Amino acid sequence: MQNRVTKLFNIEYPIIQAGMIWASGWRLASAVSNAGGLGIIGAGSMYPDVLREHIQKCKAATQKPFGVNLPLLYPDIDQHIQIIMEEKVPIVFTSAGNPKTWTAALKEKGITVVHVVSSSKFALKAQQAGCDAVVAEGFEAGGHNGREETTTMVLIPTVCSAVDIPVIAAGGIATGRQMLAAMVLGADGVQVGSRFVASTEASSHMNFKNLVIASQEGDTQLSLKQLTPVRLLKNHFFNQVQQAEANCATVDELNKLLGRGRAKLGMFEGDMEEGELEIGQVSAIIKDIKPAAEIVQEMYEEYSAALKQPLK
Ligand SMILES: Cc1cc2nc3c(=O)[nH]c(=O)nc-3n(C[C@H](O)[C@H](O)[C@H](O)COP(=O)(O)O)c2cc1C
Repeated sequence: MQNRVTKLFNIEYPIIQAGMIWASGWRLASAVSNAGGLGIIGAGSMYPDVLREHIQKCKAATQKPFGVNLPLLYPDIDQHIQIIMEEKVPIVFTSAGNPKTWTAALKEKGITVVHVVSSSKFALKAQQAGCDAVVAEGFEAGGHNGREETTTMVLIPTVCSAVDIPVIAAGGIATGRQMLAAMVLGADGVQVGSRFVASTEASSHMNFKNLVIASQEGDTQLSLKQLTPVRLLKNHFFNQVQQAEANCATVDELNKLLGRGRAKLGMFEGDMEEGELEIGQVSAIIKDIKPAAEIVQEMYEEYSAALKQPLK
């Protein structure tokens, strides 16, 4: 398959595995890249030396292109950028910050830069900043989310009409049919997060993977809107936040409740009640944990079959 996204990244299928804290290290990223998609290391949960180690191990595990996801508000961002340049990472996906800050410097080093957006206004800013493509991430998505709560179904066509650069759809995509729907709406590729959490190679704790595949429709909700909105699985921590918000908690009180290391506690260390569990609405249709290569292959096969016979 050849289109603007496969050509931009030099990959076989326009299927991108999302960069995800506590889930996407070198094992997952290299498995997806070896399977013909684009694997991405999630730098947001890594200290600089850990990021370097993951990049080096990923380079040793695949000859194919791979990328690093970089939340721009990360405190060690300068060191992360330095390491990405030194290690000659070919592709960087930036998120949560201003694309103007780093895009030109990265592109000067020959790095392909993609920025994650939640609105057509931000997509236009990313294009103006010189980004090669945007990820348009809808309200359904796992992890941090836009304040405007625009769903993927609405966001993709609006972003596609706002920009000329390739658009990669994210949020609520775990199957080939969902991939086809996003492409019919105008996307050039898909970024898939939650489905890859339930993969053999994801570094997420087994308790979390098991909870993801057991979860049902309605089990996730956007939370912590006064801080940075994030879609979470409902558990004791989520209920505590709800209760605090109902009692008109201040930002300081919410920050205190969140504390440090909640995401690690839940998704990496396996505390399913006190941890912060980031996952998308699409977890409701993810029913098994599989090797990443099978996920890529099945998604592409279902996409191809659905393309031939789109209506059920
Ligand atoms: C566990 C988890 C961690 C995530 N961490 C990040 C991150 O560090 N940086 C980022 O840009 N997006 C992050 N996201 C969002 C994903 O990159 C992706 O856009 C999203 O998962 C797509 O929606 P889906 O979950 O419905 O597939 C995360 C998502 C999940 C589920």
